[in-house]
Amino acid sequence: MKIAGQWRRAIEFDGEVRVLDQTRLPAAVEWLTLRTLDDAARAIRDMHVRGAPLIGATAAYGVALALRDGIALDQACRVLAATRPTAINLRWALDETAQALSGVAASEEAAAAYITAARICDDDVANNEAIGEHGAALLRALGKQRLQILTHCNAGWLATVDWGTALAPIYKLHEAGVPLHVWVDETRPRNQGLLTAWELAQHGVPHTVIADNAGGHYMQRGQVDACIVGTDRTTRTGDVCNKIGTYLKALAAHDNRVPFYVAAPSPSIDWTLSDGAAIPIEERAADEVHTIRGVKLTESPVANPAFDVTPARLVTQIITERGVALPAALLSLFPEHA
Ligand code: MRU
Repeated sequence: MKIAGQWRRAIEFDGEVRVLDQTRLPAAVEWLTLRTLDDAARAIRDMHVRGAPLIGATAAYGVALALRDGIALDQACRVLAATRPTAINLRWALDETAQALSGVAASEEAAAAYITAARICDDDVANNEAIGEHGAALLRALGKQRLQILTHCNAGWLATVDWGTALAPIYKLHEAGVPLHVWVDETRPRNQGLLTAWELAQHGVPHTVIADNAGGHYMQRGQVDACIVGTDRTTRTGDVCNKIGTYLKALAAHDNRVPFYVAAPSPSIDWTLSDGAAIPIEERAADEVHTIRGVKLTESPVANPAFDVTPARLVTQIITERGVALPAALLSLFPEHA
């Protein structure tokens, strides 16, 4: 997608692996070069890259960097898998890479890993574009003159390689000239909503940043036609794990009969799980909550779960690269996992 009019991806490889440093956005556009396995692991752990699909893509390049430096595949996978626990795309990308390397001669492993990482990136872009088309059709079918869409966290191109998941339908509609406006949840404590606002602004998509608690109010007033979010891990039964606060938005949407859509590329689906309660929820550092602009505002204990689970019954439809399904019918799009 575009930065100052120039088309870029959130992770790029041209002999070096480069990622857009999301800890600096939106204040500054800075690129980080990942030179080693440790660089890749640190980038994921410290959230220089974030968003489930981009975490997976970065991990794939992390393996390639490790193999190039003579670090064993198992060791590289162990280091990368330990960076963040919730997004299933991380494990998926490591499994994909390991599978692609099985039977490959040791001397060829690094080259094969780079090819696999590039393929994972290209597939991510293709998946997201397809989600964009399917989701755009779904949103068009609501038949609104000017669509009002609410999103939580950042599930845009910054969270993926390109296009984004939840934002892909929005970009497709905007490109097609469909009038729309996006309510962007601020998404405390890490303010990923500001990343969403930044990328929407780069594309000229009308939007308004709101405090996390404002969404229900706008839904009650009929100013939200649909909610659309991404996911870090969705179970085979359609329970959706996403950024903390997603569940409350789904409850408010349900109470106000606002459709609640989830954009879920297949690498974000955990086919081994049938119950969202089994998804590991990352607990992050207290300072993300108690410290604002460098000032510690409370000595009280802090809890900081980074994700929550929205049960399938609160999800209207799941948008995948293969089409759209009711949560309970997700498997019908992916019969190979039945
Ligand atoms: O903690 P983060 O910023 O990595 O969390 C990101 C999210 O929760 C996104 O909504 C999710 O990864 C979907 S991204 C297409």
